[in-house]
Amino acid sequence: MADRVKFGINAVDELPTDISSWNARSATIITDEGLAQTGMIDEITDCLEETFVHIYTGVEADPSIKVFEEALEFVRERDPDVIIAVGGGSSIDVAKTASVIHDEDGSVRDYIAPPTGGGKEITEPGVPVIAIPTTAGTGSESSPVSVISLPEKQLKVGISSKYQYPDLAVVDPRLTTSLPSNLTAYSGLDALSHAVEAYVTRPFDGKEQPQTPEGRPDYNGRTLLTDQLATTAIKLISENLRPAVNNGANLEARRNMSLASLLAGIAFTNAGLGATHALALSVAGKHNTPHGLTIATLLPAVMRFNAAAQPERFQTMAELLGEDLSSGSQRSKALKSASAVASLAEDVGVLGGLSELGVAENELPQLAENTMQLERLLVGNPRMVTKDAAKAILQDAF
Ligand SMILES: [Fe+2]
Repeated sequence: MADRVKFGINAVDELPTDISSWNARSATIITDEGLAQTGMIDEITDCLEETFVHIYTGVEADPSIKVFEEALEFVRERDPDVIIAVGGGSSIDVAKTASVIHDEDGSVRDYIAPPTGGGKEITEPGVPVIAIPTTAGTGSESSPVSVISLPEKQLKVGISSKYQYPDLAVVDPRLTTSLPSNLTAYSGLDALSHAVEAYVTRPFDGKEQPQTPEGRPDYNGRTLLTDQLATTAIKLISENLRPAVNNGANLEARRNMSLASLLAGIAFTNAGLGATHALALSVAGKHNTPHGLTIATLLPAVMRFNAAAQPERFQTMAELLGEDLSSGSQRSKALKSASAVASLAEDVGVLGGLSELGVAENELPQLAENTMQLERLLVGNPRMVTKDAAKAILQDAF
């Protein structure tokens, strides 16, 4: 997780003191144009009156490599003492990568794993990063990963490094109150998928061991610790996502969603994810659909596929999601977790399947094929995913 986390309403007001611990005389804020126009960025720069601030506003949703390269250039030219990311996962991802590469040679592409990129290693910490999320969902404020779109390859790839953990995450639920209801829904369901996937992912010794320790992905497998975080997050989301979507100004619901997102983020960063994220990266790489919406569309189908592998855990999730388990077979109780997620998604406005996202049925074999390349995610899935299984899940979610 981030080196330090400050959570609470108005936590962002203490930013000047937080920054002073780095003796920062200059800061670069990385954000998007929309937020820059809301006045939120002005509020932050006003409170940093002692600090010289530059603002990069070029971040887009699901940012392409072009945005990453441009922000890197911006940071290289200003050479700030600290980087402040304000926004959704996109701004935080862009900031983390700009921080660790800005002092090194080369472009962002050089640091992407081969065959897509040069596979260069990030060898030391970058400029301190303060992550200030304005959505409740991505978990980027507590993770070492950034996700980059490569439109020309119709692919999404990640850069992961222990140096990419933010130095400080300031999670202030007040900053999420102006988030539109559709983005509240998508990011909230993304957080739910992080908790669900972390809760059923394989434990450390339940996966095939890599040939060398270096071959092990960052994800270590689930533990009692990540279970606690994940189950608390599932319950909070089950009780607070609908109210947060229905009334964005409901600060209690917003606070619980921000907390759930943070807990789910820490859970998956340590435990791992599974087939939902692998399939979603494959679909979104091709169609450039928003991450949270793609995840929400796929999650119930993946849960239906996985339920048989971990029936007790799926029953626990059904209970946390408010289902009545007083009767029925073990299988039907486990499957209630998937139908509960499907109705939550529907209630917050995610109504269609993959076809609604612009996916054609004849693309499913290729999307299944692309999914198989996301080994680091699939290896944690509780049930083995073959190419045929991936295709069947996509068909189920169609
Ligand atoms: Fe996600």
